[in-house]
Amino acid sequence: MASLVGKVAMITGGGQGLGQACANLLARDGAKVVIADINPATGEAAAELIRASGGEASFVQGDIAREAEVAAMVAHAVETFGGLDCAINSAVLPLGQRVPLDQIETADWERGMAVNFTGVFLCMKYQIRAMQARGGGSIVNIGSGNEHTGEKGLSWYLAAKQGIYGMTKCAALDYGAEGIRVNAVAPGPMWTPLLRENAALNPGHLDKHVARVPLHRICEPEEVAEAAVWLCSPAASYVTGVTLSADGGYVLGSG
Ligand SMILES: NC(=O)c1ccc[n+]([C@@H]2O[C@H](COP(=O)([O-])OP(=O)(O)OC[C@H]3O[C@@H](n4cnc5c(N)ncnc54)[C@H](O)[C@@H]3O)[C@@H](O)[C@H]2O)c1
Repeated sequence: MASLVGKVAMITGGGQGLGQACANLLARDGAKVVIADINPATGEAAAELIRASGGEASFVQGDIAREAEVAAMVAHAVETFGGLDCAINSAVLPLGQRVPLDQIETADWERGMAVNFTGVFLCMKYQIRAMQARGGGSIVNIGSGNEHTGEKGLSWYLAAKQGIYGMTKCAALDYGAEGIRVNAVAPGPMWTPLLRENAALNPGHLDKHVARVPLHRICEPEEVAEAAVWLCSPAASYVTGVTLSADGGYVLGSG
């Protein structure tokens, strides 16, 4: 399949985990890929892997919580490959320990929201402007769980993720007439560095996840990336404003 030939795609958090899987599949489908990540070591290595297998990829370093850096990352895509057609916003601040709401340090809350919520807003703001110049495009924001999920100790994380779903729907309304589609993907548990670190900090966490997922396993990030890349592609040309669960049935609420 080569449905994205000639298209330019930007992936935040593309240096590892789900973002890297998305970058690899976008390149497989013919897109020129910009990997945007705060970590230059993993980001450059991910871009090099794509180039080594014959794809086109460029790495740009930046923090999605900083507006000037976001603007520069989008400008890098436009300058390097001539425009922007697709974006997958996957970057996330690692979870760390689960903490009940009243125990959350305000500074930790603010940093979590700055990256996981405002960061997505800033990325969309500049990605949309670049797509307007192109006459259309597709954005996929990565959430977590469905719009109504709760989980103990995760208010700072799920507040941001569920806010993303609302922001996605509003942006789909704002830009539909300009040919810009905006969707979200709600992943289930995936074998990524984030999940492995989180499992080490929270014993029993993986078993609970597996028990709740009807398909009864943790997935590979490529299984979720396929859904995100499909939403980017012309095959999803009439799909906008949705939150697509790719979660082994986790959304159903019990395993
Ligand atoms: N792993 C899971 O089980 C799981 C489940 C549900 C949802 N998700 C979501 O999937 C997405 C990807 O998660 P993952 O598991 O691949 O995470 P990960 O921690 O493995 O990778 C996240 C990437 O984001 C980058 N990043 C972090 N802060 C950044 C910043 N300020 N600016 C730019 N880049 C930054 C990191 O360097 C890293 O490359 C996230 O949005 C996460 O919330 C993951």
